[in-house]
Amino acid sequence: MKEISISQPDDFHLHLRDGPALASVLVDSARQFARAIVMPNLEPPVVTVEQALGYRQRIMDCLPEGSSFEPLMTIYLTDNTRPDEIRRLYENEYVHAVKYYPAGVTTNAEQGVTNIDKVYATLEAMAESGVPLLLHGEVNDADVDIFDREQVFIEKILTPLMERFKDLRIVFEHITTEQAVQFVKQGPATLAATITPQHLLYNRNALFENGIRPHYYCLPVLKREAHRQALVAAAVSGHAQFFLGTDSAPHARHAKENACGCAGIYSAHAAIELYAEVFEQAGSLDQLEKFASFNGADFYGLARNKRKITLQQQAWLIPDSLAFGESEIIPLKAGETCRWKLVADGN
Ligand code: DOR
Ligand code: ZN
Repeated sequence: MKEISISQPDDFHLHLRDGPALASVLVDSARQFARAIVMPNLEPPVVTVEQALGYRQRIMDCLPEGSSFEPLMTIYLTDNTRPDEIRRLYENEYVHAVKYYPAGVTTNAEQGVTNIDKVYATLEAMAESGVPLLLHGEVNDADVDIFDREQVFIEKILTPLMERFKDLRIVFEHITTEQAVQFVKQGPATLAATITPQHLLYNRNALFENGIRPHYYCLPVLKREAHRQALVAAAVSGHAQFFLGTDSAPHARHAKENACGCAGIYSAHAAIELYAEVFEQAGSLDQLEKFASFNGADFYGLARNKRKITLQQQAWLIPDSLAFGESEIIPLKAGETCRWKLVADGN
């Protein structure tokens, strides 16, 4: 039986939610990943270091006995985030980055940045101290076609931002287009990007297969096949500026199967196995460890994980649904088979 062992991976973009939902999903990530960058878009958002530490404690309290999973906390940038908060963050060992959502761009982004000029002093403090800025890289502009919002973000926001703050460390989160791949490849080493399993596995046809499929809806939305192929090529290239970030984003079934369904795909139940499938299909399983376990840690200046995990080529059935607090979630590839199975985890 085909088997691979790699250093334990990290998830550099994860939504864990809070309360009973947190308790439902955390075990899935903790089983596979050593660490995860935890998104701050709670309701209300996590905007201070103090709030991030409170949230971290709630995560730690939910972890199964004996787990060594480490949540790497972030704060949410608003028009009112001051440089002082960046200094507090820099001095704190548990909080690692600042998340930028253009106001209203996605789930719980209402309090995001309305105009980037408003946070220049804060970005300056980040550039000076080396605190990474994690970007939701889409413009939130009703006049811009939803499939073009990432590309327009590169032109209108990201390019001028990088011109102005040359030392700012930036993670372009969940990239979805060929343009983003090229931009990151040509960019300086201070720029990196995460790639999700859904954007590697599917193109936008998945949203409309024999009807509308809300469980394939996330933001940025899935794109054309040519973009998917460019993302796969980037992920398997071993290039140091591309790494794993699932953007696993659970929403209760009723919130997705709705006249106005929420954006977000839950992939934490089988994340590393789904990435393995992508790398295998591309004939590049030997590159999985760089993408999943080395590149992200190196970018964030974290030690690479010493433990190993083992994946076996063994078909298993992904459940139709999973518990989610009082409700349920429909996981990515629900009811379908997964070709790889995690047989030995890092704990
Ligand atoms: O699809 C998404 N879901 N994209 C985001 O940017 C946010 C996320 C969520 O929190 O549900
Ligand atoms: Zn996200």
